[in-house]
Amino acid sequence: MTSAQHSDANIQPFDVAKVRADFPILTRTMHDKPLVFLDSAASAQKPRQVIDAVRDVYEREYANVHRGLYEISEAVTARYEGVRETIRRYINAGHTHEIIFTRNATESINLVVASYGRSFLQEGDEVIISELEHHANIVPWQMLRDEKGIVLRIAPISDDGELIMDAFEKLLGPRTKLVAISHMSNVLGTILPVAEITRLSHAAGAKVLLDGCQSVTHIPVDVQALGCDFYVFSGHKLYGPSGIGVLYAREELLDAMPPYMGGGDMISSVTFEKSTWAKLPHKFEAGTPAIAQAIGLGAAIDYVSALGLEQIGAHEHDLLNYGTQQLSSVDGLRLVGTAPAKASVMSFTLDFAHPHDIATIIDRAGVAVRAGHHCAQPLMARMDVPATVRASLGMYNTRADIDALVAALGEVTEIFG
Ligand code: ALA
Repeated sequence: MTSAQHSDANIQPFDVAKVRADFPILTRTMHDKPLVFLDSAASAQKPRQVIDAVRDVYEREYANVHRGLYEISEAVTARYEGVRETIRRYINAGHTHEIIFTRNATESINLVVASYGRSFLQEGDEVIISELEHHANIVPWQMLRDEKGIVLRIAPISDDGELIMDAFEKLLGPRTKLVAISHMSNVLGTILPVAEITRLSHAAGAKVLLDGCQSVTHIPVDVQALGCDFYVFSGHKLYGPSGIGVLYAREELLDAMPPYMGGGDMISSVTFEKSTWAKLPHKFEAGTPAIAQAIGLGAAIDYVSALGLEQIGAHEHDLLNYGTQQLSSVDGLRLVGTAPAKASVMSFTLDFAHPHDIATIIDRAGVAVRAGHHCAQPLMARMDVPATVRASLGMYNTRADIDALVAALGEVTEIFG
């Protein structure tokens, strides 16, 4: 999909200059050079609208939520709870009480493992993950394997970075109880066919958890249309604050699952003999939550929704095509992750310099990228690289950013090439 294919009369051209003006950090320099921020897959920058929403909470309307019988507490509680509806709409969940606030996607997965996994998975039950998972969707399942004796099965990917569907299907069987898989790879950018994965998994009787950390910022998500059982993401990659994340789960699962953490706000009654749990969603939200961060996430989703995720996606896709083309012309550069269905991520190696050296050198030119294993060491092993450089795109990036990256790589070539 290119910008040209999005020339439908109803779609306004994406005004990247106007978008950039909303992101204060983009006016700063790094090493006296204009900042070229190409690390949005790690954490996206924040528009003024998000910063203002957080500031407004602290300056004007801060109090604890769900606890105060005074005006400010009631007002901030309404704002905080209103974000649940914003998120419900954004991912088209059936009910606001199916939206659980967590700290991040990692905590959301850990919640599912600790609550659903410990209660409903038994020794010998199989959980399928894939070769391209982030550590957050590997390690919690390994911890459950070591505790309960579940079996982890690993769905393979091709050299391009696509899930090999035949092999995935062969892994599904009567012992498969859960499939936990990324919607989009944080390293390769591959978009996985999650509707088909969900359909096949359900046909085999397995539940499905989708890690939407990367996808939720680029691709419209409809959890009801996908039919998934769990969907997780973080606020900070979606142009919102850090410290706030989301677990979507179907009501009947959340009802059956025991609480994850005990404490205030998640109970209905407490005596020394026995406690009973609050209704959804609060059963899973012990303690004072990330109030301002949740409200900031609401502002971020409003911002993204006003621009339109499809327009943002088309703009980023145009840049991805341009970036892929430009990088391909750099001598000694190998792109890691070349699946036809991909978004916003360009991982690569140079055959004469280590990724850490590359990132350090191009930082001097004002270009911010991530280098390393990207919290996906098994994927590095699969792609036969120790590490990669990863340039990842956000809505505010431009072709000039790509040109700056390529020019900075020229300096690396001068030093090492
Ligand atoms: N998961 C984040 C990344 O991909 C931190 O960089």
